[in-house]
This record gives sequence, C-alpha cells and structure tokens, in this order.
Amino acid sequence: MDFKKHILCIGAGYVGGPTMAVIAYKCPHYKVTVVDINPARIAEWNSQELPVYEPGLDDIVREIRGRNLFFSTDIEKGIREHDIIFVSVNTPTKQFGVGAGQAADLQYWEKTARQILQFSGSDKIIVEKSTLPVKTAQAMQRILATGGDGVEFEVVSNPEFLAEGTAIDDLLYPDRVLVGSGNSERGLMARNELVEIYANWVPAERIITTNIWSSELSKLVANAFLAQRVSSINSISALCERTDADIDEVAVAVGMDSRIGNRFLEASVGFGGSCFKKDILNLVYLCRFYGLHEVADYWENVVKINQYQQERFVLNILNSMFNTLSGKKICLFGFAFKANTGDTRESPAIFIARRLLEEKAEVVVTDPKALVNAKKDLENVNGSLSYTGDPYEAARGCHAIAIMTEWDLYKGLDYKGIFQSMSKPAFIFDGRNILDHEKLFEIGFNVFPIGKPPLTHY
Ligand code: NAD
Ligand code: UGA
Repeated sequence: MDFKKHILCIGAGYVGGPTMAVIAYKCPHYKVTVVDINPARIAEWNSQELPVYEPGLDDIVREIRGRNLFFSTDIEKGIREHDIIFVSVNTPTKQFGVGAGQAADLQYWEKTARQILQFSGSDKIIVEKSTLPVKTAQAMQRILATGGDGVEFEVVSNPEFLAEGTAIDDLLYPDRVLVGSGNSERGLMARNELVEIYANWVPAERIITTNIWSSELSKLVANAFLAQRVSSINSISALCERTDADIDEVAVAVGMDSRIGNRFLEASVGFGGSCFKKDILNLVYLCRFYGLHEVADYWENVVKINQYQQERFVLNILNSMFNTLSGKKICLFGFAFKANTGDTRESPAIFIARRLLEEKAEVVVTDPKALVNAKKDLENVNGSLSYTGDPYEAARGCHAIAIMTEWDLYKGLDYKGIFQSMSKPAFIFDGRNILDHEKLFEIGFNVFPIGKPPLTHY
C-alpha cells in the first residue's frame, strides 16, 4: 500500500507507544513505526503482553499492528525511511554534575539528535514529543545544522498531555493539541504537516499553534499547575485534621466556584508519577538559571508539600499505632502511583514502604497491576517484605491496612471478613479517601482518612 505520510517515533515508552497507536488507528493512510534501543521493550510491543497497561490500548494495537503500525529496533532504517520523526525518549532528572537533582538529563535526547543527523539522507521534520526545558529546540536545531550535506531539518514542539490510566481517551478526545514552531516558511510548513495529522480526528478549534518556546514552556507549566492543585488541597488536608473540618466538603465548596473548578482537588497521600516532580524541578532549575529565585522558591514548595504529605502519612500511622511499628504487619493496598496503571514511578507507596520498613514494620504489598514494578522498586530495601495479588490474603494477620492507590477493586471488598482476619485493634489509613469510613468504623476498624477527623474506638 502507498502511504501518504511516513511517521517514525523514537522511544517506545508510556508516551511513544500509545500516542503512535492512536495516530495509526485514526490515520490508516499513514505508516507509523515506533523504534527503541531496548529490544525487550520492542519484543513486548510485538507480543500479546504489551509493556504498558492502559485501558483500550490492547484492542487498538491488536487491530492495527502489522497493518500501518510497526514496532522495530532498527533505528537507522527508521530514520532513513521516514519524513516525520517524533522523539519521545525519556528526559529524567539529572543525577550528576551541574543541575543534579533538578535539571533535565538531556543525554538520551541529544543521542537521538546525533543519530538522526547520522542516518538522515533526506529532509526531515523533527517533533519534540518528550517534555523538555524551554529552548531545547534551539539546541536540537544547532546539532542538526552541523551535517553540512544539504539535508535540512525543522524542529517543532508537540508536547503530550495524556495522563496514564486514561491515555487512550486523552489521545482520542484531547482537550487541546499544541504545536509550536518557528515562523520561517519552513517552520510554518512543518507546523502545518503536524496540524494535518491531528486534524484527522481532533476538531480544528482544539489544535492550537504557538511559537516554539511557548509550546515547550506550556508543557512544564501545565504539569506545575496540576501538581500545585494537588499540593494545595493536600496542604489544607493537614489543617482539616487539626480543626475537624472535612477536606472533601471543603473541596466541593471551593470547587463549585466555576473560576476554580472541581477537578484535581482530591486530597491524597501525595502525587506520584514520572513527570510532576521532575517537570517542576526542571521549571525551578530554569527559573534559578535566569536569576528568578522568588519564582523558583514558589514552585519548589509544591514539591516540598508533596514530600511533607507523604511523611505526615507515615507519622500518622506511627502515632496512631501507639508510637511503635516494630514487628507489626502493615499491608499496602495498591502500589501504582494512580489507579488503572501498572506504573510505579515516583509512587508515594515506594517512600511509605521504605519508611515503614525503617520503623521495623513487616510490609505486605498488594496491587492488581503493579507488583512486578513494586518488586523492582523495593529490591534493595532491607526488611520483612512480601507481595501478593490477593488483597484478602495480604490483609490476613495484619495490624493495619494503608490505601495507597485508588483502585476501584478496593472499594468493593468484604471488609467485615477482612476485619475478622486481622490482628486487633485493626487500623485503616485511607490515603485516597475512597472507602466508606463510617461503615468501616461500625465494623470495628479504627479509621484514619486524609483531611478528616479519625474514627477511633479508643
Ligand atoms: P519511558 O521511559 O516510558 O520511554 C522512553 C523510551 O525511550 C524507553 O523505552 C527508552 O528505551 C527509549 N530510548 C531512550 N533513548 C533512546 C534512543 N537514543 N533511541 C531509541 N530509544 C531510546 O518514558 P515516557 O514515560 O514514555 O516519557 C517520555 C517523555 O514523554 C518524557 O519526556 C516525559 O516527560 C514525557 N511525557 C510522559 C508522560 C507519561 O504519562 N508517562 C506524559 C506526557 C509526557
Ligand atoms: C500528568 C498530567 O495529568 C498529564 O497531563 C501529563 O501529560 C503527565 O502528567 C505527564 O506529563 O507525564 P499522570 O502523572 O499520568 O499525568 O497522572 P495524573 O492523573 O495527573 O496524576 C498524577 C498524580 O497526582 C497521581 O499520583 C494522582 O494520584 C495524584 N492526584 C491527582 C491526586 O493526588 N489528587 C488529584 O486530585 C489528582
């Protein structure tokens, strides 16, 4: 078949895989290839067990894989044969040298730029899909300009706003698609190429175009604003616990103001995920680089409150359980950083498991999708740790349950039966406020929600 466009994506991760699957699904007249340096990952994309769990993803991939969606390790061939190259490699926080612990580590990104330069025999449009510090496109353009063989590259920014667990819906029905470009003739042509791709299924008014720096910065700012809302509500949850106010009632009252809006106001044990912390720290680093220290301090506090919330949760467990956890069995319901994903990157559960083990508690971890990752996250941690997929088995003999992830599964369990199987007094620390606290209290549990008065039998 003659395809109208040949699209390559470098990086077959949580973003590259689902994003390209949806482009290929919605655009049968385009050929879409996803490449990665990790052969195991590509093998998984070509198998029945995809490396990423996302509701709806399996069905799409099964339908179009081998038709116009391909997964491959041949990066060189991919670069040679495709005209539009999305780059969706990881951009973690730098762990060494200047900017360690804050700046984005751009080594994977730069390696990709050099590979593109090395293998391109014809003009290409390079699309920044990864989240990058503002002005990265300039560096990319400079590297690509060193070829000197007449091949021309145009870099555009097209950040991704999908959230894990809802990635397919977010991609099918995005709030907006953002394309940032230069305003030269070539820049505008590249921008139009991208707009044309999304116009296959996204309404025109939802596709916005900006200058390239606004686009790069908007991605960092969107994540910073989202994380800020979580830290805002979590900071108030601490005050609620001291004043007998109820955080859910406060969130409803505040969120009904249409200027504020009611989404992203769920108090929790803290936000996790691979991006919020890294992107805010990246923003903080940029602000410091430009000498804007007050601005940097402001955003850094969003991360500090998140850390405080997690530490507060552990101290609450410790204080409520008579100031010692030594030898007590505590089970974590959920390990993923949010529901409907197996991803555990920066999950608050990692920190909490470690802290409980430091207090010499015995920790049992259960999760419907994230146990493989949980085991990797905790493999070098000392202490008594066990894992099971069955929440009933996990809770048996435990002194306390701590809800870490808001999986629906945990809402409908037989808590009467669970209570009977636990050591007494039995505690529940609901780090997501998803359970019926009154009912649990009636069953006999001592219940500690987030941002609400505890319900105790003593
Ligand atoms: P990921 O770690 O899941 O995937 C990145 C992939 O890139 C890996 O499979 C890795 O092997 C591959 N890779 C690295 N260097 C390579 C190279 N030189 N050649 C080929 N492949 C290479 O990361 P992710 O979660 O998909 O995130 C990718 C980017 O998208 C990040 O910048 C992130 O901030 C951004 N982002 C992520 C999400 C999300 O929900 N995870 C959402 C929006 C944006
Ligand atoms: C987030 C953004 O929502 C996406 O738009 C963005 O593309 C993505 O980061 C990224 O750049 O990686 P994601 O991290 O997948 O998506 O998930 P979110 O739904 O944003 O949740 C992040 C964390 O905040 C989770 O731990 C979640 O449990 C927590 N959260 C969220 C709360 O504690 N309370 C809320 O009200 C909402």
